[in-house]
Amino acid sequence: EAFDVMVVGSCMTDLVSQAPRLPKAGETIHGHKFFIGFGGKGANQCIQAARLGAKTAMVCKVGKDFFGDNYIRNFKDHGVHTDFVGQTSDAATGAASIIVNDAGENAIVIVAGANMLLGSEELQKALPAISHAKVLVCQLEVSPQTSLQALRMAQENKVKTIFNPAPAIPDLDKDFYRASDVFCCNESEAELLTGSSVTGVEEAHGAGQELLKRGCGAVIITLGPQGCVVLKAQEPASNKHVQTAAVTTVDTTGAGDSFIGALAFYMAHYPTMPLEEMARRANQVAGVSVQAVGTQTSYPFKKDLPAELF
Ligand code: RIB
Ligand code: NA
Repeated sequence: EAFDVMVVGSCMTDLVSQAPRLPKAGETIHGHKFFIGFGGKGANQCIQAARLGAKTAMVCKVGKDFFGDNYIRNFKDHGVHTDFVGQTSDAATGAASIIVNDAGENAIVIVAGANMLLGSEELQKALPAISHAKVLVCQLEVSPQTSLQALRMAQENKVKTIFNPAPAIPDLDKDFYRASDVFCCNESEAELLTGSSVTGVEEAHGAGQELLKRGCGAVIITLGPQGCVVLKAQEPASNKHVQTAAVTTVDTTGAGDSFIGALAFYMAHYPTMPLEEMARRANQVAGVSVQAVGTQTSYPFKKDLPAELF
């Protein structure tokens, strides 16, 4: 059985507090709501792809603990293949402490825990599946060597790769660029990776060009309400700004993951669709996610979306 989308990446339990604003250092403030949800960039992307109808498999590691057991159940509930979901007693399931302010912005601290124990052994076990997948997606919440190895495995087998360098690290190994068919990041990640400010469409084009030069097949920089820019190595002249409809923002946590999960779905299901059209549709999917609280809980299913997106 070949998977549409395989994700090699993280699972985190999201511990979310909603508060009027983000606290300052040393400060205690009252929040109005607390909830626990399923998060982690890798799993978020996988779940969004699954909710759109992709046949998915997750390669990850959770702890042998309550949160880890629950997470495996969450994957099963979504029809995500779990043979490559490992459980370890050497570390706890990853956790993310998240604060969301009234503007829907957030601040996040992650403790990756078991995610960091995902390594080559697990990748070797998943290799037969990875080599037959349509699309492989990686981020940076597991050890970077693991992500890079997974991207290379996919590339060697002509599997399309999406790399989301999040959370960004300033000295990212240059091999990541060469291993990415689509290199997709947000403004702040692009800023960290290029060392220059990325605040609007203009600057995003500049940063995109710089990232493209490093060897990826295409670059997408997401710009929140301003949509995204799409740049392709094969058509250097066709830099595109893809706009998105304005929506009322409640919680942007995981919106980038919703975008990437949707992008992976489109790349797997409509391989000949222009990348900017996939990005336009993925923007719409992510636009739905920001209108509800939570991360995965806010991700739309195929049935919730207009038919023209499929
Ligand atoms: O991208 C959003 C995710 O980042 C959250 O779900 C949290 O777990 C952190 O990993
Ligand atoms: Na949301």
